[in-house]
Amino acid sequence: MAELLGLDHVAAGYGLATVLNDISLSLADGRSLALLGRNGAGKTTLVNTIVGVTTMKGGAIRLGGRDITRLRPEQRAHAGIGWVPQERNIFKSLTVEENMTAVARPGPWTVARVYDMFPRLRERRRNMGNQLSGGEQQMLAVGRALVLNPRLILLDEPTEGLAPIIVDELLGALKRIIWDEGVSAIIVEQNAQKILSVTDDAVILDRGLVVYAGPSAALAADRDALETHFGVAGRAGGRGAA
Ligand SMILES: Nc1ncnc2c1ncn2[C@@H]1O[C@H](COP(=O)(O)OP(=O)(O)OP(=O)(O)O)[C@@H](O)[C@H]1O
Ligand SMILES: [Mg+2]
Repeated sequence: MAELLGLDHVAAGYGLATVLNDISLSLADGRSLALLGRNGAGKTTLVNTIVGVTTMKGGAIRLGGRDITRLRPEQRAHAGIGWVPQERNIFKSLTVEENMTAVARPGPWTVARVYDMFPRLRERRRNMGNQLSGGEQQMLAVGRALVLNPRLILLDEPTEGLAPIIVDELLGALKRIIWDEGVSAIIVEQNAQKILSVTDDAVILDRGLVVYAGPSAALAADRDALETHFGVAGRAGGRGAA
């Protein structure tokens, strides 16, 4: 399948500091990738580098065969990169529906389809962003990225801080979005075991380097690799397990 996103020997960081040393990876159109690693491994920095909000220090980034290395963040968004940052930047003083209609662009993902995916959001369509629970805010953040109809969606720890039942609901929806609807996605996640059943492929970062890349199913079955990279066979991910 054709490559959607490609990183060649990317080095990047913030100001003078280099966080990512030499990252190469490739994502085919319609595929999904779990981005794993302990706290501080560089996961958010990698997502931010694809979005274009870090300082590039070397290497190249391609989207759909086009070199986007020198494009500004808004140009990359326009080229089809959708982003749900770790801090879920929904508009607190707009309603659920306004949050989405304010940014929606033509394409297969409409507000109605997001409501079908997240019925809770339909129930709360007239509530303000600041009246939502953490889980509802995250669903809205995902919905808002979808109605932009991006070619690739980047989700930075979508389940962080959510109750286990909400985590399962959100991951179930992400699975349908990825598997049934064919949306290409990169998902940063602390809980390796849970996300590996959602994504096709997985990458583990450690200190700004790729230390594992392969199919998610192979990693899920590899107790030694999970133990090496996360401790306790991947159950806790990085959080609290460092
Ligand atoms: N704005 C910044 N300026 C300078 N250094 C930063 C900045 N943001 C992050 N870093 C550093 O970059 C490294 C990687 O951080 P990053 O946030 O990418 O890790 P992460 O894998 O997303 O961690 P977490 O799981 O805690 O979210 C850390 O050493 C961090 O201190
Ligand atoms: Mg992070």
